[in-house]
Amino acid sequence: MTTRGGLVVLISGRGSNLQAILAHPVGEQVRAVLSDNPAAAGLQVAQAAGKPTHICAPAEMEEALTREIAPYAPRLIALAGFMRVLSAEFIAAHQGKIVNIHPSLLPRFRGLHTHRRALQAGARTHGCTVHWVNAEIDGGEVIAQEETAVQAGEDEHTLAARVLELEHRLYPRVLAQLLQEAAE
Ligand code: GRF
Repeated sequence: MTTRGGLVVLISGRGSNLQAILAHPVGEQVRAVLSDNPAAAGLQVAQAAGKPTHICAPAEMEEALTREIAPYAPRLIALAGFMRVLSAEFIAAHQGKIVNIHPSLLPRFRGLHTHRRALQAGARTHGCTVHWVNAEIDGGEVIAQEETAVQAGEDEHTLAARVLELEHRLYPRVLAQLLQEAAE
């Protein structure tokens, strides 16, 4: 019998944010991990933690997501490196439940290659954002951010690594807080 509430996590790739979530006390509230990509390394991370995994093939992805998520009745759907754009219909059907982590200080640098673009723009600070998901890509309400100073002469890789560490600290903490607030 599945406990309702908690969260499901959607991934497409390496799953380092998933790993950070599972290593935090909030990890106990992860009911399942879903991926659009059968080769996502994060699926092994989930399995090693004893979490159910489900693959949702791109052809009918949203129907599959909806079908697989429904039995868990999660309070939150956490996108963690999930690389598909969700439709407005899907987002509306899960209104107020979908959160994402994005590697920039939104509203700056929506979309891809955020670290490179931050360096090219001469940004003095960079970081990550947890936000609610709405129909606008990386455009939903900001919940929390972590920032870091951009160092003189640094490259995309060092900046990306530092921001990723911030992501790993921020995302589990925010998810725990959101679930706590929902329970009050
Ligand atoms: C992270 O940088 C996240 O902010 C972005 O995609 C990346 C996923 O990395 N949305 P991982 O799969 O969690 O390691």
